[in-house]
Amino acid sequence: MYESEFPLDDSIIYLNHAAVSPWPQRTAAAVKQFADENAAFGSQNYPGWVATEHKLKQQLQQLINAASSDEIALLKNTSEALSVVAYGLPWKSGDNVVITNQEFPSNRVVWESLQKYGVETREADISGDDSPETAILNTLDDRTRLLSVSAVQYGTGLKLDLPVLGAACRERGIRFCVDAIQSLGAIQFDVQACQADFVMADAHKWMLGPEGIALFYCRQAVMEQLDLKQYGWHMLEDLYNFDNRDWEPAHSARRFECGSPNMTGIHALHASMTLILETGMSTIEKLVLENSRFMIDYFSQQPDRYQLITPTDEHRYAGIVTFRPINEPPESLFEMLSGENVSCALRGGGIRFSPHFYTPRKRLFSALELLEG
Ligand SMILES: Cc1ncc(COP(=O)(O)O)c(C=O)c1O
Repeated sequence: MYESEFPLDDSIIYLNHAAVSPWPQRTAAAVKQFADENAAFGSQNYPGWVATEHKLKQQLQQLINAASSDEIALLKNTSEALSVVAYGLPWKSGDNVVITNQEFPSNRVVWESLQKYGVETREADISGDDSPETAILNTLDDRTRLLSVSAVQYGTGLKLDLPVLGAACRERGIRFCVDAIQSLGAIQFDVQACQADFVMADAHKWMLGPEGIALFYCRQAVMEQLDLKQYGWHMLEDLYNFDNRDWEPAHSARRFECGSPNMTGIHALHASMTLILETGMSTIEKLVLENSRFMIDYFSQQPDRYQLITPTDEHRYAGIVTFRPINEPPESLFEMLSGENVSCALRGGGIRFSPHFYTPRKRLFSALELLEG
């Protein structure tokens, strides 16, 4: 049904959206058109490009249900946005940040780097018997200034209950930061319901955009609490008044965008977002979860051959299903799959499959048939 939007080569079974996604047809077309326009007319239509930039912020506002598109900045990637938060917050020696023991390096090293200011990084063990939220909340203490978690873990695929975490943080005056790169574009996300202060996600995974353009949400009420570390013309309130000597940073999240925007990325992601919003996040989520359920059922019916690393409870997974073969090392099975042009990844101690909403069921069957040998 969605195949015309994804002209993927027939030889490939693409189960790697948790890494880098293929572009939809319309995204490839938008980039080609932007290239042709640049070659023929240069930046003559710059106001039109700025209009696309604004439209993209509105699309992203809708995607996460932000109160305003003024709370959204376009940065380079998830790691950059995490760094803006880490180096913007006012730390005191003895403060701590809580993360989990399953985070991607970007959501660990940036906090560990604050050790030079006497800031401790505490890891909640969410792999044990307690619910992950209980484990996280038990790790907070009266010196915790920030909780920073992935909405969906990149390795295990575990989905956290963000509203529970956000409510606890708000009550205790702890800032709440969500790395949403494994969630946005795959499952529904409501930044107001989860009471996040900061959310970040690059476009190249479930949002079906290119690498190098990322959403950074910063709640208006906490925006001025982040000290700015980068300066330039684009982050000024009065940005086109180049003669103005009496400047101030923008009151919106544009204050985090120091210089010229990534216009190619903006045009590409804008096109991808039209597909996501036209399809609708509730439809996308339903299809993503159906694909995950299908794979989870397949692996859990064969406990003598596979160990599922992804949790099986319905509210605990999103688009990632990671499994471990019992009778051979995951590396050799991964090599076999790669040799057969199944695009997947070795992560979280097993093999990670991550189809998207449009992945035809017959392609999933073909991948599972290869496992049968
Ligand atoms: C949970 C998570 N956070 C961050 C990243 C890296 O993001 P970026 O390259 O946008 O900094 C990844 C990439 O795999 C990820 O899975």
